[in-house]
Amino acid sequence: MNPTRTSRLAVVTGAATGIGLAVARRLGAGGLRVVLLDRDGESLAALAEEAWIADRLPLDVSDPTAVDAAFRMLAERHGPAGVLANNAGIAAVHAFLDHPAEAWNRVLAVNVTGAFLCGQAAARQMAGAGWGRIVNIASISGVRASLDRAAYGTSKAAVIGLTRQMAVELARFGITANAVAPGATETDFVQRHHPAAIRAAFDAATPDGRYAAPEEIAEAVAVLASDAAAHVNGVVLPVDGGFLAAGVLGADTGR
Ligand SMILES: NC(=O)c1ccc[n+]([C@@H]2O[C@H](COP(=O)([O-])OP(=O)(O)OC[C@H]3O[C@@H](n4cnc5c(N)ncnc54)[C@H](O)[C@@H]3O)[C@@H](O)[C@H]2O)c1
Repeated sequence: MNPTRTSRLAVVTGAATGIGLAVARRLGAGGLRVVLLDRDGESLAALAEEAWIADRLPLDVSDPTAVDAAFRMLAERHGPAGVLANNAGIAAVHAFLDHPAEAWNRVLAVNVTGAFLCGQAAARQMAGAGWGRIVNIASISGVRASLDRAAYGTSKAAVIGLTRQMAVELARFGITANAVAPGATETDFVQRHHPAAIRAAFDAATPDGRYAAPEEIAEAVAVLASDAAAHVNGVVLPVDGGFLAAGVLGADTGR
C-alpha cells in the first residue's frame, strides 16, 4: 500500500531550527503532514502553528526508550510514518590528541545511534505500509576529513555507512534510504562552530564560494523523499557548492 501523498506523514528530527526546520517546511509545502521532533522542546513550542504541522514532540533521539515511545505514540495518533528525515546532529571541536572521550561518545550517540534508533522505529512502520523514504543528513565531513573533527567526521562517515545498510536491508519493504551531505550551511550550528578563519577557509575551498542556505539542503531532501526517487537508493547526495568535487582552488590561470 502506498499512502497517498496528501495523507503521508513525515517525521523530521532536530526540527526546531536550521536545516531540520527548513526540511520540515519544505515537506509541509509539498503537501505532507509533518511531525517535528527536537530535544529543545521550548523552541519547538515557540514555532507558530501551521496547517502542515501534525505534531511536535520534545525528544532526545539518542534515548532508545524515548524514541520507541514517541514513534508508537505518533503511529497511534497519526498513522505510520511515510518519510523520516534523520537530521538531529551535534558537533564537538577538539584536536585529535585532546578529544575528550565523553564528547566522542555524545556525538556518536546523537548522530549515529540517534539515526539508527529513529530509522529502525520509522522503518518498522514503513515496512507495514510497504512504502517509505528515509533521508539521513550526513555531511561533507563524513567524506573528507578536516582538523578537529574526529568525532563529528567519524559520526558522519558512519551515517553514510548506516544509509547504505538501511538501503540494502529495507529495499524489499518498499523503503529507500539515502543521505544528503551538506557543505557549510548558514545555521546556528555554524554560528557556534565556524569562527571567521574557518568561514574564510570554507569559502575558499568551495567552488561557488559561499555557504548554503538551509532551504537548499531541504530541496535535496524533498527530492529524495518523493515518489519520483523510487529507484534512487543508498546514495550520498552532496549539496555543497562543489566542495567535494574540488582540489586546489584559487590559482587564477588567466584562461
Ligand atoms: N550547518 C552546517 O554547516 C552543516 C553541514 C553539514 C551537515 N550538517 C548537519 O545538518 C544537521 C542539522 O544541522 P544544523 O546546522 O541545522 O544544526 P543546528 O544546531 O542549527 O540544529 C540542530 C537541531 O538538532 C537538535 N538536536 C540536537 N541534538 C538532539 C538530540 N539528541 N535529539 C533531538 N534533537 C537534537 C537541536 O536542538 C537543534 O534544534 C546536523 O546533523 C548537522 O550535523 C550541518
